This record gives sequence, C-alpha cells and structure tokens, in this order.
Amino acid sequence: MSKVNIKIEGIPYSVEAGLTILEAAKQCGYEIPSLCAYNHGECSRASCRVCLVEATGARGLVTACTYQVAEGMEIRISTPKASQARRTSVELLLSNHNQNCQQCDKNGHCELLHVAQLVGAREGAYTGEKTEVTIDRLTPSIMRDTSKCILCGRCIARCEKAHGFSVLGFIGRGFKTIVGPAENRSFKDSPCILCGQCTTVCPTGALMEVSEIDRIDEAFKQGKHVIVQVAPAVRASLGEEFGLPIGTPVTGKMIAALRRLGFERCYDVNFGADLTIMEEGTELLGRIKNGGVLPMITSCSPGWINYAEYYYGDLLDHVSSCKSPHQMQGAIIKSYWAKQKGIDPKDIFVVSVMPCTAKKFEKERPQQVTNGLKDVDCVLTTRELGRLIKRAGIIFNKLPDEDWDQDIMGDYTGAAVIFGVTGGVMEAALRTVYHVLTGKEYEKIEFHEVRGHDAGIREASIDINGTVVNVAVASGMRSAKVLLDEIREGKSKYHFIEIMGCPGGCINGGGQSYVKPCFLPNEDDNILDTFKEKRAKALYSEDERQVIRQSHNNPQIQELYAKFLGEPNSHLAHELLHTSYAPRVRFNDPE
Ligand code: SF4
Ligand code: SF4
Ligand code: SF4
Ligand code: FES
Repeated sequence: MSKVNIKIEGIPYSVEAGLTILEAAKQCGYEIPSLCAYNHGECSRASCRVCLVEATGARGLVTACTYQVAEGMEIRISTPKASQARRTSVELLLSNHNQNCQQCDKNGHCELLHVAQLVGAREGAYTGEKTEVTIDRLTPSIMRDTSKCILCGRCIARCEKAHGFSVLGFIGRGFKTIVGPAENRSFKDSPCILCGQCTTVCPTGALMEVSEIDRIDEAFKQGKHVIVQVAPAVRASLGEEFGLPIGTPVTGKMIAALRRLGFERCYDVNFGADLTIMEEGTELLGRIKNGGVLPMITSCSPGWINYAEYYYGDLLDHVSSCKSPHQMQGAIIKSYWAKQKGIDPKDIFVVSVMPCTAKKFEKERPQQVTNGLKDVDCVLTTRELGRLIKRAGIIFNKLPDEDWDQDIMGDYTGAAVIFGVTGGVMEAALRTVYHVLTGKEYEKIEFHEVRGHDAGIREASIDINGTVVNVAVASGMRSAKVLLDEIREGKSKYHFIEIMGCPGGCINGGGQSYVKPCFLPNEDDNILDTFKEKRAKALYSEDERQVIRQSHNNPQIQELYAKFLGEPNSHLAHELLHTSYAPRVRFNDPE
C-alpha cells in the first residue's frame, strides 16, 4: 500500500494513501468528532457534518469522513473556523432533538451526547419548529422514536448489509425527513424480523430494544418465584458493559450478580441447548430414515423464524419443530421443575437473558404456551442486564466467581456453549447424530468446517457409517436467502441447514453490548472487524474446558428423559418442547 506524507496540526505523519482524513487522524491518535460515519461506510455519507476540518487543497471546510488524504496535505482540526463549524452542526442537531437524557436508556452509550461534549455544544443555542414525531412501541422487541434520530442512515445500511433488504428508509423531504419503515408504518406492520441489528448501530436512543426491566420488579413485588436463565452468548459480551475487554468471559461474575439481584434460581440455557440437540438430532434422523422433508433447518433463531414466515411460507415444513433452547427450558421449569419443587407453575416467573431482541417477540407467540402459561415471561437483552446490575449498585468487576444452581438443570456440555456462534448448533448436533447412528463417540469432536464468526455460507459432508450427511450454515438473511432459494428451486444438496438471524450468530445478536469505538479507547482500531472473533473465542474456549462435550452425555438430560419425558420426540416431549409456524402476510416489501 503506497504512503502519503501529511501534516496534522503541524506535525508530520506518513499514512496509507486512500484513507479518509478521519481514518488517518484516528491512526495518528487524533479524535475528530464524528456521528454519522460508521464501519466501512455503513451510513448515509456526510449527513451530520460534525467532522468538519480545514485541509490544504480544499476550498473551505471538508467533511473528514469522506475527504481523502493526499500527498503534502496539511490538516487543521482546532482552528476557530473548524471548531465553531462543528459546534454549530451539533447545536443544529440538538435543536431538533428531544433531550430527555435522564429518561433515555441510551444515556451512557449515546454518541450524540459524547460529541456534544467534545465540541462544547450549548443546549438551546437554536430554537424553533421541530419535525413531527413518531413513536412506535407496538412490537415487544424494538421501539422507534424519531425525536432522537439524527438521520445518519446507519440503521438503513445495517439492515441492508445483514439481510439484503432494508426495512428502514428515509421518508419525506427536507425538514420533514424521518427514518422508518415504508409509509412510516409501525415495525409491527412491516416485514421487520425484529433482529435488532439496527439498534446496535444507532448512535442515539432513536432505535432501542423495548425494555422489560420494570416487569422484573413487579414479579418480585407479587412474590413470584423469579427464576433466571441465561443464553451462552451473553457471557461473552456482558463484561463490555463494565469496561472489560471485548470477549472477556464473565460467567462466574454474571452468576454472582444475578444472585445479588435476588433471583431465586440461576440456570444456564445451555441445559436447554443440550435438550434442543436431543430433540432436533432425533427429528433429523427420523426425517432421514423415514423419507421426511429435507433439508431440515434449525429453529433456534426467532429472527430467522420471522423471516421464514414472511418470505418463505412455502418452506416452513423444512423448519425443525423444536422450540428454541430457552423456550424449551422455560417449559421444563414450569412442568418438571415445578413438580419436583412442589410449586404451582402459575407462581413461577421465568426471565431469560438473551443476546437477542427477537426473543422478546418469540416469548409472546401463541404457539409458545403450555397448559395456558407462557413458557417464558420476560426477556432481557445483555444490555438490559448490564443496566439492571448498574442500577442495583453492584460493582460487577469486584464480584467473586460463583456457579450456576446445580439442581435438576445444572449440568451442561461444551456442545451447548457453542450455540452462541454461527455453526455451533450444527457442530453440537453432529456430535450427537453420529453417536445415535453408530452407538460410538465421534473421535473428531470439533467440526472446524462449519466454524466461523461471520456471515456467509459454510458447508461440510460428514460420512457416518456410510451415511453421508451434507450440511450448510448461514447467518444473516442475505446468506440464508441463497440456501433457501436453492431449496425452492429443488436444487439443494443438503440434509441439514443451520440458519441464524444475525450475521455471525448470537455473539453478534441485536441485544448484545454496543461496539462503539468512541467509547472503547483501549480496543484496537479495527475492533469493528474483530469483535465477533473475540466473542466467539470466549465460547470455543469454554467448550474446550468442559469435561463433557456432547449433549447426549449430559447426566441431567439423561435423568430428565428417564424420569419425565420418556425419550426424545416422545408425545410429552412434543407437547412441551415443539412448536409450529405459519406464513405471515407482508404488509409491504422493502425495496
Ligand atoms: S439520544 Fe442521547 S442526547 Fe438524546 S435524549 Fe438520549 S441520551 Fe440524551
Ligand atoms: S430489526 Fe432487523 S430487520 Fe428490523 S429494521 Fe432492524 S435490522 Fe432491519
Ligand atoms: S434511527 Fe438511529 S441509526 Fe437510524 S438514522 Fe436515526 S439516528 Fe441514525
Ligand atoms: S461523521 Fe462526517 S459528516 Fe457525519
């Protein structure tokens, strides 16, 4: 890569040609305020104008996020003209912004507040008419408040990059412009799959998860038995809420925090993941042996299920009937666990902590109810758990490491831990399918062919005693679409496909901690490219540390079948652990 010589604030530097001034300045240790710019142009370019600087060779001020460095360029960030222009840009944004920061859940992670502070923007510098506001809280997953939108376009670009379409777009013109689904509909009336990817990039509180924190206080007040269960990917991200490096596994401290928050029992959803493998593996083998519908597609990602119901209603027979792990575990808590403890299931309140916003919708599905009770009552994202811990005054980083409750659902295997990474469900299933078909353990425990931490399609063929099982893995709907269209056209060569709604799987779920470089001074410059790999490592290393690494060898799972469910896919297992899907009407297609 060729280099160019530049000067920033009078100091000479040699930087790569082709970089923007913003990128070059960052590499040289300067922070130029920026708001709309995001990873590799995932934004509506140069819309916020808070990155204005002076540069030789340019006429007037330039936006550092779009203007490229050139040989001999002298860049001035701190001139009165540049700093006043940046302040004016931010003050204009604030003039059309609902600044109720105290009630805003984005406070503490808000890039607008961060930049306002950097440039010294004054509140109320400009006053006047404000754009008409839309507040959409009609889904259980995502809320939109246009009074906080700065029109940066990151959400539009993210949805498009992840899924190959964008539910969101700019609506209206000039001062009346807002961002939302077509015709300013609610997410509820759009083909949004509620994955929450847009919420992870929004710099302000304009797109957020719908918070359920207050529902937990209510459950405690009502004297319910409040049981918490936590998904594998949460432990790889929660530490980021407390300033720990990305990908620091914090399982022990997280359990200690949950206990101090007052939860009566703390369980790992990994038990439910092992159960899912038993049910899903058996379903797959049944389909292979009995000429059932193939390829079978995994069903643990509710974002993917929403997509299937909207876009591939004709392929729903291919989707496994298994509930997702936390829904399975919720159903077991309100049946087997309740019976063992002598507790009326009506008095139990199950809270799931998930890396995912679509799980909030999933728990409300009418098909996820057993004996008139919801399997899961409340879903918190990783971010919400972080807020809950902070609100309670718990000093997370000083907590000792504690262990999960061990009764009834305390055992889990390495296979379950890797559910949080794209390819993980497939790998866990293969470990068990091999055993069921051959009666032996597969020597090669790790299936590196299906491993990864990014979107894109990976495939493998596994020879199991002469039965060749062709498998494929995709995450993000852009990749999934390729595999689904092959099935639709009758060209699919696969027996089993894993699909996850978010690119990279749950480690990059829409409810995980925000990866905002301006708040991560100790991370690498390329953290937006590497954070998924770091979180994935935290899960793969936990798998390696487990003594038992195949779901069928989990002793408490074996006990659950022996004492309660009978065998995988039994009548009772179907009643409690399986579900159904139905095609849904799309109100309007994204462009
Ligand atoms: S988005 Fe930021 S500036 Fe706006 S109200 Fe929330 S915290 Fe305050
Ligand atoms: S939740 Fe997902 S599908 Fe819906 S708008 Fe956001 S990124 Fe797009
Ligand atoms: S909703 Fe958020 S990400 Fe989308 S344009 Fe507005 S501020 Fe940007
Ligand atoms: S960051 Fe450059 S215009 Fe927004």
